[in-house]
Amino acid sequence: MKTYKIAVMPGDGTGPEVTAEAVKVLNAASAKFGFKTDLTEFDFGGERYKRTGETLPDSGVEELRKFDSILLGAIGHPDVKPGILEKGILLKARFALDQYINLRPVRLFPGVETPLKGKGPKEIDYVVVRENSGDAYTGTGGFTMKGTANEVAVQSAVYSRFQVDRCLKYAFEYARKYGKKARGVGSENTLALVGKTNVLTFIYDLWERAFHEMGQKDYPDIRRDYYHVDATCMWMVKSPEWFDVLVTGNLFGDIITDLGAITQGGMGIAAGGNLNPEGVSMFEPIGGSAPKYTGLGVINPLAAICAAQMMLEVLGEEKAAKKIDEAVKFVTANKLKSLAAGKMGFSTSQVGDLVANEVAK
Ligand code: IPM
Ligand code: MN
Repeated sequence: MKTYKIAVMPGDGTGPEVTAEAVKVLNAASAKFGFKTDLTEFDFGGERYKRTGETLPDSGVEELRKFDSILLGAIGHPDVKPGILEKGILLKARFALDQYINLRPVRLFPGVETPLKGKGPKEIDYVVVRENSGDAYTGTGGFTMKGTANEVAVQSAVYSRFQVDRCLKYAFEYARKYGKKARGVGSENTLALVGKTNVLTFIYDLWERAFHEMGQKDYPDIRRDYYHVDATCMWMVKSPEWFDVLVTGNLFGDIITDLGAITQGGMGIAAGGNLNPEGVSMFEPIGGSAPKYTGLGVINPLAAICAAQMMLEVLGEEKAAKKIDEAVKFVTANKLKSLAAGKMGFSTSQVGDLVANEVAK
């Protein structure tokens, strides 16, 4: 029987509560679909930082390298200055493990309310492939004359052809395998590049040339579109049905995926994967630690459950992943009153039970 070694990092705030439900669903799936999970918990997060001053040490990264996958709850603590834990844990893991893809499905599940008038699950059904290793996230830059009236701050967007090409390759392959034609819900598989070629004439010029070269040569079966990032924000609201697979740089990807998340029902449901297709990937609900709901049993665990679902898909347990996907859809369509914390009509662990029971059926 196949055994997956999974590092579990519940983290801060409501992270442990939602992670417990994701693990519950994983256990139901492994019992049903004939694989095993070997879970090891790590306490990286705000409490540990307060106790020891340590975020994610290099020795922790070396530990994490030994796993097949990482399941993360949430990082962020009200007593810790913003940036320390995000940079020291989340971004450190992404960079040290070279998780160069951030995969963010934007899918509206049945029964879930969207702020987009007149749009439903058929229209809101696309995926953002966000490059996750470069851009303004590399920390390239600095200050001169800091603290004076003449202070200058520079923070550069950085991309190498290598980074761009490996991301585009992933995105084209993803569009071929999971695009709208491949899923039987459209007539073609489309990859759209989201950029800003009218102003960022170096960075997105590189992206655009690499995009068309690779598409022409290796992926002639995939339709290529291009949108400026500002216009993309408009169309994500007005005509989300135009999109299939989008690919973009790290910073634009960060911004547009939060817009995407709110159109799919918000932080209760949105999940993301930090992928190293050749190494160790890390899956997370994107909502954060929600300190004000900590310990109340009211937070929605579906995003964490969807993160576990994505993890199984990437690990190759496609049947189990599909079953969890269907179970979550059943629960949103037939059970939950709302996705919002405290308004679901069920407690956190009851929602986990509802999904786990569906998976076990
Ligand atoms: C995300 C988050 C992170 C990012 C933060 C917490 C560093 O916003 O995963 O989208 O900017 O990538
Ligand atoms: Mn973000």
